[in-house]
Amino acid sequence: MSRGATVWLTGLSGAGKTTIAEAVAEHLRAAGREVEVLDGDELRRGLSAGLGFSRQDRDTHVRRVGFVAELLARHGVITLVPVIAPYAATRDEVRAQHDARATSYLEVYVATPLAECARRDVKGLYARAIAGELTGMTGVDDPYEEPDKPDLRLDTTGMDVTTAARQVLDLLIERGLG
Ligand SMILES: Nc1ncnc2c1ncn2[C@@H]1O[C@H](COP(=O)(O)OP(=O)(O)OP(=O)(O)O)[C@@H](O)[C@H]1O
Ligand SMILES: [Mg+2]
Repeated sequence: MSRGATVWLTGLSGAGKTTIAEAVAEHLRAAGREVEVLDGDELRRGLSAGLGFSRQDRDTHVRRVGFVAELLARHGVITLVPVIAPYAATRDEVRAQHDARATSYLEVYVATPLAECARRDVKGLYARAIAGELTGMTGVDDPYEEPDKPDLRLDTTGMDVTTAARQVLDLLIERGLG
């Protein structure tokens, strides 16, 4: 069996987490690997339905997703997790749970700056937050604690998706997981 791993893509809304995860997943599937994408938006409709955006609910969401990711990764699946995960302590908890089982865990900080994320405004959330119609928006009026030692830092400003995905794939190869 190939070695599994969790690849957590953390960063602001619109940073490119989902887009990069899907591109990486497509590439790995084509190479015959077992791959899953645990997308924050999707899981909030299922596994984490009913949770909101308070610190407590965000932490519960991240812990649940982390639990499922570790299970999959332990069984040989490359598990890509595009989930904001704004709190450093909670991300560290998830990493520690992987470490406790010797399951590989990589943190990719999709470090696209707020101004670029707001310019893209894929979901129209930044416009609503700036207009005061939405509160608790990560990076606007809710915290985002930047990772200080990510395995990879990717600012996607002016970068194409293929290049961004390539950097994640190269990281996997470098760590013997590709
Ligand atoms: N190099 C790049 N990598 C990823 N996305 C890029 C890149 N360049 C431009 N984009 C665009 O940026 C947007 C990123 O949106 P995406 O939904 O992936 O963000 P996200 O980080 O998953 O946000 P959310 O937390 O709201 O789910 C997409 O419209 C994508 O096409
Ligand atoms: Mg997303």
